[in-house]
Amino acid sequence: MNEIDHSRTITVTNDRYREHYHIQTDGGWLNDPNGLCFFKGYYHAFYQFHPYSAEWGPMHWGHVRSKDLVHWESLPVALVPGDPEDSGGCFSGSAIVKDGRLYLLYTGHHYYDDGDQDHFWENQNVAYSDDGIHFTKYAGNPVISAPEDNSQDFRDPKVWEYDGTYYLVLGSRSKDDNLGRILLYQSADLLDWKYVGPITKSTGQESEGYMWECPDFFRLNGKDVIACSPMGIKACGHHYLNLNQNGYFVGQLDYQQAIFHHLNFNELDYGHNFYAAQSFLTPDGRQIQFGWFSSFDQAMPEQADGWAGALTLPRELIMNGDQLGTIPAKEVSLLRSGRVIHSARIIDGDQQLAVTDPQHTEWDITVTTTGDDDQFSWALTGSDEQLIACHYDKAAGEITVHQHGQATDRYATIGHCDQLRLRIFVDTSSVEFFINDGQATFSERYYANGPVTPHLLSNHALPIAIDAYNMKG
Ligand code: FRU
Repeated sequence: MNEIDHSRTITVTNDRYREHYHIQTDGGWLNDPNGLCFFKGYYHAFYQFHPYSAEWGPMHWGHVRSKDLVHWESLPVALVPGDPEDSGGCFSGSAIVKDGRLYLLYTGHHYYDDGDQDHFWENQNVAYSDDGIHFTKYAGNPVISAPEDNSQDFRDPKVWEYDGTYYLVLGSRSKDDNLGRILLYQSADLLDWKYVGPITKSTGQESEGYMWECPDFFRLNGKDVIACSPMGIKACGHHYLNLNQNGYFVGQLDYQQAIFHHLNFNELDYGHNFYAAQSFLTPDGRQIQFGWFSSFDQAMPEQADGWAGALTLPRELIMNGDQLGTIPAKEVSLLRSGRVIHSARIIDGDQQLAVTDPQHTEWDITVTTTGDDDQFSWALTGSDEQLIACHYDKAAGEITVHQHGQATDRYATIGHCDQLRLRIFVDTSSVEFFINDGQATFSERYYANGPVTPHLLSNHALPIAIDAYNMKG
C-alpha cells in the first residue's frame, strides 16, 4: 500500500486565520467531509486532503476523531493514493460499521496518460480498519470497476444498510444527455456490488445541473432524503448564486422499483462558502451533517499560510414539513467558556457590542419586530469595512448576507417574523448563521487583518434579548 512521504508534508506558517473550533488540517489543503461515522466510542471525520501543498492535488483522506463531536484529535492519514485502484487520488466516500469493523467506501480517481486533467475515469473501492486508526485497502479492489455506460463522472459513494441489505448511491453525469443523476447499487456484504440503476435524474442542465457530486442518502421523520452537490444550475433571482450548489430532494425511495420519488430541489445552506456536505446517524438517532466550509471558486487567503479549507460545525438536520433545515448540534455548546453578555435591550440605530474576544464568540439574539417595515442587522466590521453582515428586512421577508469582497450577496426568504432568532458562531475566519432554528443557514468565511467589532443595527427602536458566549475551542 502506498504511504505518505513525510519529508514533503507542509505545515502552517502563520496563525492569523487559523480556526479555533472547526476541523482544519495541520498543514495542507482540505475539501469535502468524508466517512463520517461513530465507531468504538469515537466520532470519526475524514476529509479530502492534500498534504504536500495548500492547493488541491492528489487526494488523500485526512482523519480526526472525537469523543464529543466538537473536540477533535488528529490521526494519521487514513488513505494515501497511488495504488492501482486509486492511481490518481482517493476521492470522496463514506463509512459504515459491520461486525465490529469500520469500512470506508471511496472513489479511485485515474488519469489517462495524455496530460489532460479533465480526461479521467473513476472506480469504487473499499478500505477497512479494526482499530479506527490504521486502514487496509481491500485486496479485491476495485469493488465497482466501471459504470454501466462508461460515463466519466462516477463518484462519491454514500453507503447505508436497509432491511439486511447494503446500498450505495453514486453521483454521476449521464453520457447521452449530460445530466446529473444518482446511481444505486446493492450488496449483501459490502464487497460484492450489484448495479440496480439510476433512481433519479436532473430535469435539465440549467434547472438541476449536469453533474451531481457527493450524494448523501438518509431517512428523517419517515421521509427519504437525497442531498447532493449539483454542478451547473443557472442562477435564478436570489437563488443558486454559487458556482456549484448544495441542496436536497425529499421523497421516498421505492426499493422494489428502484425509483426515488421526490419533490423539487432545494438549497440547504445559502452561504457563499458551503459545499459537498455529508451526514451520518449518531448512536442517539440524530442525523448530523458537516459541510466543506468553502468551495472551488472561492478565494482562500489562508493558502499563503500553508493550509486551506475547514469543515463547518456539526449540524443536526431537522425536517419541517417537507423542508430540511439545520441547527447547531447540541454538543457545540460544550465549546462555550463563559457567558459575556446576557441582556434585554432596545436597539435603535447602530450599537457596538463589547465582548471579550469578538472573533471567538457565539451569539444568540432574539429580535421582537414591532412594525411591518422593520429592518435589523448583525454585522462584524474591520478597521474601515463591513466584513460580514446579516440583514433582515421584514417587508421583504428576506435575510441578506453580505461578505466583504464578494460581488453578490446571498439571500433566504423567511417571511414576516414577529420574532427573529439568530444564532451566530464566529471563529477566526468564519461565521455561521442559523436563522429561526432551522429555517435558513448561511456559511461564510471572512478574513480580518486587524481588530473586529460586532454591531447591531435597526431602522427604529426594536426590543432584543441577547446572549453571547466566549468560545474557547
Ligand atoms: C466535490 C468533489 C468530489 C470529489 C472530490 C475530489 O468537492 O469534486 O466529487 O470526490 O471533490 O476532491
